[in-house]
Amino acid sequence: MPKNLEIELSSAVLRPWKKGDEKSLVTHANNRKVSINLRDGFPYPYSAKDAQEWIKSASKIRPLTMFAIVVNDQAAGGIGIHLRNDVEQRSSEIGYWLGEAYWGQGIATEALKAVSEYAFKNFDLCRLYAPVFAWNPASARVLEKAGYKLEGRLKKSITKDGKTIDSFLYALVR
Ligand SMILES: CC(C)(COP(=O)(O)OP(=O)(O)OC[C@H]1O[C@@H](n2cnc3c(N)ncnc32)[C@H](O)[C@@H]1OP(=O)(O)O)[C@@H](O)C(=O)NCCC(=O)NCCS
Repeated sequence: MPKNLEIELSSAVLRPWKKGDEKSLVTHANNRKVSINLRDGFPYPYSAKDAQEWIKSASKIRPLTMFAIVVNDQAAGGIGIHLRNDVEQRSSEIGYWLGEAYWGQGIATEALKAVSEYAFKNFDLCRLYAPVFAWNPASARVLEKAGYKLEGRLKKSITKDGKTIDSFLYALVR
């Protein structure tokens, strides 16, 4: 696998995170409409220090599993898979987000399709999955457009910002 792989999409590029992405990362990540749909590890407010820490760790991850979504030369989102071991060694969670300025242009769907292909091609995986918070129909739609299938509704599986809600489990199995 090339070390500094870039994946070209029609209106974005996926590439490894790198030093210099901090400013655009804060611009696009510091948004409650983004963080509300993600794990608590993605903070709000999203500070310059958060961006530095993320880029420091994400830029070193090899094999390459974490990509910046670059739009108009700005790191405006992220997408990646979490490789597991033990009994889940062939199953990976996939996660993604995009800055609100670029929503509704099909970018997340294209990125999800491309990284799903990348993951199946480069790792011994047979399953990619994503839990979607029940209040996030846009992400459920992105997964459906990328071929993921709804496996079930996990009742009261998520507690976010003091609210306990259901999630939908989507998966792509090969
Ligand atoms: C979810 C997210 C990644 C979508 O990114 P995007 O680039 O706008 O997605 P796309 O343009 O590829 O597709 C969005 C789809 O959702 C649909 N959509 C948007 N808002 C919707 C809503 N409230 N209800 C139903 N569908 C909705 C759009 O119409 C579009 O579907 P279409 O092509 O059939 O019209 C982006 O909004 C985001 O980063 N949100 C915050 C973080 C997040 O939710 N991450 C995923 C966690 S599982």
